[in-house]
Amino acid sequence: MAGLNPSQLQKFQEDGFLVLEGFLSADECVAMQQRIGEIVAKMDVPLHCRTEFSTQEEEQIRAQGSTDYFLSSGDKIRFFFEKGVFDKKGNFLVPPEKSVNKIGHALHAYDPVFRSITHSPKVQQPHLGGEVTPHQDATFLYTEPLGRVLGIWLALEDATLENGCLWFIPGSHTSGVSRRMVRAPAGSASGISFLGSEPDRDNSLFVPTPVRRGALVLIHGEVVHKSEQNLSARSRQAYTFHLMDTSGTVWSPENWLQPTAELPFPPLYT
Ligand code: FE2
Repeated sequence: MAGLNPSQLQKFQEDGFLVLEGFLSADECVAMQQRIGEIVAKMDVPLHCRTEFSTQEEEQIRAQGSTDYFLSSGDKIRFFFEKGVFDKKGNFLVPPEKSVNKIGHALHAYDPVFRSITHSPKVQQPHLGGEVTPHQDATFLYTEPLGRVLGIWLALEDATLENGCLWFIPGSHTSGVSRRMVRAPAGSASGISFLGSEPDRDNSLFVPTPVRRGALVLIHGEVVHKSEQNLSARSRQAYTFHLMDTSGTVWSPENWLQPTAELPFPPLYT
């Protein structure tokens, strides 16, 4: 990635996010979309692992913390689903390829197409276009000191007001972290718990950020952002991952996602 120019850097520092249009070519977007199509076509998820993806606290504890499908997904390629896509028995109510909210969390390590695009990121979470409620990434990926995590969000298709583009509260990255998701002590009923709480956000402060296919959105780890549910007929695929500045930084041992012996966080520069 070429460096940011001074005005881009200033904008990122003021707003906590920055859009760089035209970062990927159309061919690169198509290659990732085709690969996702192949991966989803081969998806085989056991009934008890049909976990709906959520950033909402109660749902997270229930759906993600109660199963190790999520907690042990850091070094695997696993599927997380939209709400309402299963019946009570876990059977699909919609075509399986329309059911996926997110595939995580180790495409960058095991899939050659994503590995080459991401060039060894630390953590990544490809979204296929589902709703993501207001949050700060640092709730889930906490470093000490704060401010050392950068989200990279790549639009594989146009992201619009209709199909679930990102929304940000500009400047909200300077107020610390209101809520942290941490691994619960061994023996707890749930695998995760929360410290602090997500305040009610003033919806009028959110600014929509529609972008074209191929755009890169830089996301500060503490900026408040969301995306609305995609109720349109057009998908909004994105590939997103996180980078951590490792210099003088501690990756919180309480984070749900931990490097493993099999898959340590890969360095971006070697
Ligand atoms: Fe996020």
